[in-house]
Amino acid sequence: MVDGPSPREKTVANKWLFLLLLGLAAAATGRFPQAHGQLDNLGFISIDCGLPESAAGYVDNATKLRFTTDAGFIDSGINYNMSAEYITPSMGRSWHNVRSFAAGARNCYTLQSLVAGLRYLIRATFMYGNYDGLNRAPVFDLHVGVNYWTTVNISDANTPEIYEIITAVLGDSLQVCLVNTGSGTPFVSGLNLRPFKNGLYPMANATQGLVLVARANFGPTDGVIVRFPDDPHDRIWMPMSRPTEWLEISTTKKVQNMEDADSFEAPSAVMQTAITPVKARSPIEFSWDAQPNVNDPSPGYICILHLSELQLLPSSALRQFYITLNGELWDPRGFTPQYLYKNSAYNTDPQHAFSQYNVSLNATANSTLPPILNALEVFSVLPTSGITTAASDVSAITAVKDKYQVSKNWMGDPCLPKNFVWKGLDCIYAVSRPASVTGLNLSFSGLSGNVSPSFARLKGLQYLDLSRNNLTCTIPDTISQLSSLTLLGCCHPCREKISRAVSSSRLQQLLSDST
Ligand SMILES: *[C@@H]1O[C@H](CO)[C@@H](O)[C@H](O)[C@H]1NC(C)=O
Ligand SMILES: *[C@@H]1O[C@H](CO)[C@@H](O)[C@H](O)[C@H]1NC(C)=O
Ligand SMILES: *[C@@H]1O[C@H](CO)[C@@H](O)[C@H](O)[C@H]1NC(C)=O
Ligand SMILES: *[C@@H]1O[C@H](CO)[C@@H](O)[C@H](O)[C@H]1NC(C)=O
Ligand SMILES: *[C@@H]1O[C@H](CO)[C@@H](O)[C@H](O)[C@H]1NC(C)=O
Ligand SMILES: *[C@@H]1O[C@H](CO)[C@@H](O)[C@H](O)[C@H]1NC(C)=O
Ligand SMILES: *[C@@H]1O[C@H](CO)[C@@H](O)[C@H](O)[C@H]1NC(C)=O
Ligand SMILES: *[C@@H]1O[C@H](CO)[C@@H](O)[C@H](O)[C@H]1NC(C)=O
Ligand SMILES: *[C@@H]1O[C@H](CO)[C@@H](O)[C@H](O)[C@H]1NC(C)=O
Repeated sequence: MVDGPSPREKTVANKWLFLLLLGLAAAATGRFPQAHGQLDNLGFISIDCGLPESAAGYVDNATKLRFTTDAGFIDSGINYNMSAEYITPSMGRSWHNVRSFAAGARNCYTLQSLVAGLRYLIRATFMYGNYDGLNRAPVFDLHVGVNYWTTVNISDANTPEIYEIITAVLGDSLQVCLVNTGSGTPFVSGLNLRPFKNGLYPMANATQGLVLVARANFGPTDGVIVRFPDDPHDRIWMPMSRPTEWLEISTTKKVQNMEDADSFEAPSAVMQTAITPVKARSPIEFSWDAQPNVNDPSPGYICILHLSELQLLPSSALRQFYITLNGELWDPRGFTPQYLYKNSAYNTDPQHAFSQYNVSLNATANSTLPPILNALEVFSVLPTSGITTAASDVSAITAVKDKYQVSKNWMGDPCLPKNFVWKGLDCIYAVSRPASVTGLNLSFSGLSGNVSPSFARLKGLQYLDLSRNNLTCTIPDTISQLSSLTLLGCCHPCREKISRAVSSSRLQQLLSDST
């Protein structure tokens, strides 16, 4: 039995990734795309969390991508540098500093200017580096939008941890939140967003996301990691070889996409290497263990094999093999990869029921050649709720937040999840409709200036308490037209003045009700 990338190996691989990125650091030149708002001209977002706001950003030596500070993506948290003992001169710069969140149960980054309906890869990176001098690696949760994504379990101070999800984005923005679960202060080193064009990773949709378990490039023994620019989608392909059990085969010829039929676009640089078993009649086998989480005791798994024939075979030769996942045969006819074209084989029904998953590629009786495997991705399926706060309410309350610079815990989705509702907000929840805001209490919040017309865009408001602030005493008429509003507290201490100023009889009624 040959083991494939188990979770343990993934950690080791991450370490390896880190060392290799260090190795690559020397090869930098300074060309980079100009940024447009949050997105660069590839549609990427590359954030170095904790980089001082005054820093202009920089070009990452390994990828040549431009990294920016996190100012503009988040308004909470404190920047720290890693302890000097963990910083080495050649270490990738984005690891040097972190943003840390001692205050608040949930702190969120907001990624904007996205395209509703597209799928995105989100990657969050962490290296503790004893930045707080406490020598205590924390455990905390990550949420994507309103959904639990994963639990970040920092193993030690100098192991880089990389978490990745592919998710369909329903609106034009997406939030990534760090959630304090009582086991240490959440922090983050980096955050990347990469768009996929339509049609890629079709299994990621409104009700399920794909959490990366392993992404392996089989064959290369030189240890080189493939990512951007060799992979235009900047996925990180970890080299995987096992010289005693697998033979490397490779080609220098380009491996082509199947026209209009490639759901994954594994890069040619990855497809150009592959393995076959050393013993010709042996199968290629690998396995991974189920990883239960607080959200799901038996998560489902999807395994994607990227396959291509790299040898020009004589007509007398046949490479044909069966693929089985825990004994279940994927295609009884067997599989024959095409010469220099990318094929893929994967399960569409996530497998749930097992504590371990074994994949086997075994030559058919007719085959004259052993099986071949170029690359592999394993994802666990994350059930997601498409239900968020109604977009019109989000836009209105965000305008209120921006106008008055409300801090409190006003981050992430306003109403969801229920245990993270914004302070001062009341929401109503329905099973299959968006949540909406029914009450807003901003009394004693230090608000000043005029009363924002944005309040009137919260159409379901039943009460609005703006008392005990320093607001000018003019109430927009549109607020009086809110059909459900029964209580309005406003503008203390100058109530008399308001009563004289307002024209709407309904609003006066509300005002006199609110004392
Ligand atoms: C982190 O280190 C940089 C470079 O040495 C320094 O300029 C910056 O002030 C430090 N930041 C903090 C928060 O200590
Ligand atoms: C990145 O490359 C530049 C130019 O070669 C070099 O000056 C700089 O020190 C490198 N940065 C890191 C973090 O290796
Ligand atoms: C974090 O990882 C450690 C070591 O692997 C493990 O003992 C611990 O139970 C994990 N904590 C959580 C909350 O998963
Ligand atoms: C998402 O994909 C799963 C598996 O194919 C399917 O069961 C589910 O209905 C899909 N959800 C949506 C909203 O299309
Ligand atoms: C996977 O393979 C291992 C080793 O051969 C075996 O012990 C285990 O029972 C297999 N698991 C399943 C679910 O087939
Ligand atoms: C592989 O296939 C051969 C027949 O082609 C069969 O005899 C053998 O048992 C299979 N091995 C595995 C591990 O399924
Ligand atoms: C194997 O070859 C025989 C003879 O050509 C053919 O009848 C049979 O269908 C083949 N089996 C497979 C699995 O292709
Ligand atoms: C708003 O909150 C304050 C305390 O901060 C409370 O006194 C007041 O009654 C609340 N208003 C409403 C309408 O619940
Ligand atoms: C209230 O607002 C007025 C006018 O904007 C300003 O002069 C005053 O200092 C403010 N008072 C407080 C307590 O903030």
